[in-house]
Amino acid sequence: MNYRHAFHAGNFADVFKHAILVGLIDALKAKPAPFCYIDTHAGAGKYDFRDEEARKTGEHVDGVQRLLIAPSLPDALRPYFDLLRAANSADANGHLNIYPGSPLIASLLMRPTDRAALCELQPDEAAKLKALFAHDARIGVHQRDGYVALEGLVPPKERRGLVLIDPPFEAQHAEFGLIRNALESAYARWPTGMYAVWYPIKLRRAVLPFYRRFASKGIKKTLMVELMLHPDDSPLRLNGCGMVIVNPPWQFDRWLKELLPELAHLLARDAHASQRVEWLTGE
Ligand SMILES: C[S@@+](CC[C@H](N)C(=O)[O-])C[C@H]1O[C@@H](n2cnc3c(N)ncnc32)[C@H](O)[C@@H]1O
Repeated sequence: MNYRHAFHAGNFADVFKHAILVGLIDALKAKPAPFCYIDTHAGAGKYDFRDEEARKTGEHVDGVQRLLIAPSLPDALRPYFDLLRAANSADANGHLNIYPGSPLIASLLMRPTDRAALCELQPDEAAKLKALFAHDARIGVHQRDGYVALEGLVPPKERRGLVLIDPPFEAQHAEFGLIRNALESAYARWPTGMYAVWYPIKLRRAVLPFYRRFASKGIKKTLMVELMLHPDDSPLRLNGCGMVIVNPPWQFDRWLKELLPELAHLLARDAHASQRVEWLTGE
């Protein structure tokens, strides 16, 4: 396990993933009943752009920093941007030094009655996560394999909520296999749960079998959203990324169709940027 999210925090893929995550959690909050947020690959929870890892790659410069210099932001991005501001409230100069990972984003949006279970296998990252939430009784941190832990975490007692599956994809093909197994077994136990899976896109042909699987396994409602910055024809670089959402909130496709063109415009490096929102199953 070599992957460390600190090298990539706040890059275009994080902006894509986290803007959508905020939309999903906000939709859960539309009803007063409590929900449970489950993060199978939680990371450290919080990152600092002044740290060596972020300075080395500078990936956030072409990611979240683009939002800071944009002349205006679309309405659909506002909740995510407000949350970034909330995570940096101590910085009076308006700088963005702190980048909230998915666990911190979820915790900032959760109500007192909502609950979260965070899984992180890497000991150093898990220790940071535990320290970050040491005084938050709503949040449980599990230093465990998130795929294995998921079996015991679903269905949650609240019977409503979201599972985020955001693995490191150190070995592309193998990771898709692990996701499929974990997702299908969780779905069998909790078919009404909401599941969001993030994945990198390098070669298009590598993601097509994953897409086809949802229909063949009888998963009834699956929405797919992609953001491409480069053509999907090179295995050597991160050309774009996607998210598959099982049981998305009502009219979430409409919200995504508003968000994605704006996001592609803000994050584009050249004329190759594109985006798609499509139903893989159901509608
Ligand atoms: C892409 S990062 C997660 C980023 C985080 N979800 C966010 O959005 O802020 C993937 C994380 O998964 C961890 N990891 C790798 N394999 C794992 C496994 N089998 N179970 C749980 N965590 C794992 C890595 O240590 C890494 O911190």
